[in-house]
Amino acid sequence: MKIVTIAGARPNFVKIAPLFQEMRRHASITPILIHTGQHYDAVMSDRFFSDLEIQPPHINLGVGSGSHAIQTAEVMRRLEPILISLSPELVLVVGDVNSTLASALTAVKLGIPVAHVEAGLRSFDRTMPEEINRLVTDAISDVLFLSEESALNNLLHEGIDKEKLHLVGNVMIDALQWFKPRWERSSIFWRLGLEVRSPYAVVTLHRPSNVDEPNTLLNILNALQELSRNLPILFPVHPRVKPQLLRLGHVAWMEPGEGKRCFPQGVVCLDPLGYLDCIALMSRARLVLTDSGGIQEETTVLGVPCLTLRENTERPVTVTHGTNRVIGSDPGRIVREALRTLEHPPHPSGPPPLWDGRAAERIVRILLEHRPTGPPQAMVTTNSFTQHS
Ligand code: UD1
Repeated sequence: MKIVTIAGARPNFVKIAPLFQEMRRHASITPILIHTGQHYDAVMSDRFFSDLEIQPPHINLGVGSGSHAIQTAEVMRRLEPILISLSPELVLVVGDVNSTLASALTAVKLGIPVAHVEAGLRSFDRTMPEEINRLVTDAISDVLFLSEESALNNLLHEGIDKEKLHLVGNVMIDALQWFKPRWERSSIFWRLGLEVRSPYAVVTLHRPSNVDEPNTLLNILNALQELSRNLPILFPVHPRVKPQLLRLGHVAWMEPGEGKRCFPQGVVCLDPLGYLDCIALMSRARLVLTDSGGIQEETTVLGVPCLTLRENTERPVTVTHGTNRVIGSDPGRIVREALRTLEHPPHPSGPPPLWDGRAAERIVRILLEHRPTGPPQAMVTTNSFTQHS
């Protein structure tokens, strides 16, 4: 069974790591990996491949950055001839980034069955680009693998055939558990000059709604500055946010490795961290403030308090079972909720159902047991196809 797995952005790489390892354990599967090139900097891509021991991709489409339409269209344009020549039995996509949508759409129009891992999550906020990607990808996929119960309800409500749905758990948590021996040995604490019990908070921000409008970002930064009177705040910065921060200009930057000389104080910006350093740093934090989806899930399992700086979450299980609270981006509320959480940390009520490190195993078993069939394979060869240079 030839399965083409397609990944393009940081959180995709975390999700495909356990899936790829699991597929490689089965002689009856020929796994092929395509990187779309949506993320391309060494710290956003190569570092994740080495941290997560993912083999180099067979093909890199090299699409790079662009508007949503351009990025999506470029993936489709470059992927189509490759899928035609590979003619796989299945295309596997993960998550909700532009590469996910573009790959699913390309495959399904060629009549190749699509499996979507992390299907059914809904923020019910269509201003989020990811929400559009989720809705469309789920609507056209043939097999949908779900990480939490809310996804099942969402998809049934949308009229998706329940035969296609499989609640299997969370591959991101597989990665967290499988790589624990490695992230526990991360040298990030030493490199940042953090003592074993030094209190600190971690912040990550990259959603357009928080970082694209200078006043919104400035308000959040002011809240973080105020909070940093209580404990240092470490802020690994996504490349799209760096130019904005440099323009606003009142944050300090630190190169890991300086730690021996300078203990972090205030709000300290760092270049993006690799997977192992990032999980290690979060695992000992007193508090994480984020607008990332994956980090809400990872803090749930790490038992670290998480405040989500958004108006909604597509991962409600992190609130009902985890340590997450969704608090929006109002600066006064950020400070109040953070101080309250530091004083009264939430008690995690155990991991959500099936978040046990075995999601990839379940997914691959299901794929082998029920070989998905999409529209007739003939479409791959009979569609008229004109290649533009
Ligand atoms: C994408 C996903 C988002 C996910 C995030 C994880 C979409 C719509 N968004 O957002 O869901 O949470 O990845 O990080 O797919 N850039 C670089 N180097 C890189 C990659 C990006 O400098 O390697 C910069 C470029 O200026 C680029 C910008 O970041 O224009 C945005 O990158 P893009 O991939 O479009 O979206 P993300 O914000 O990373």
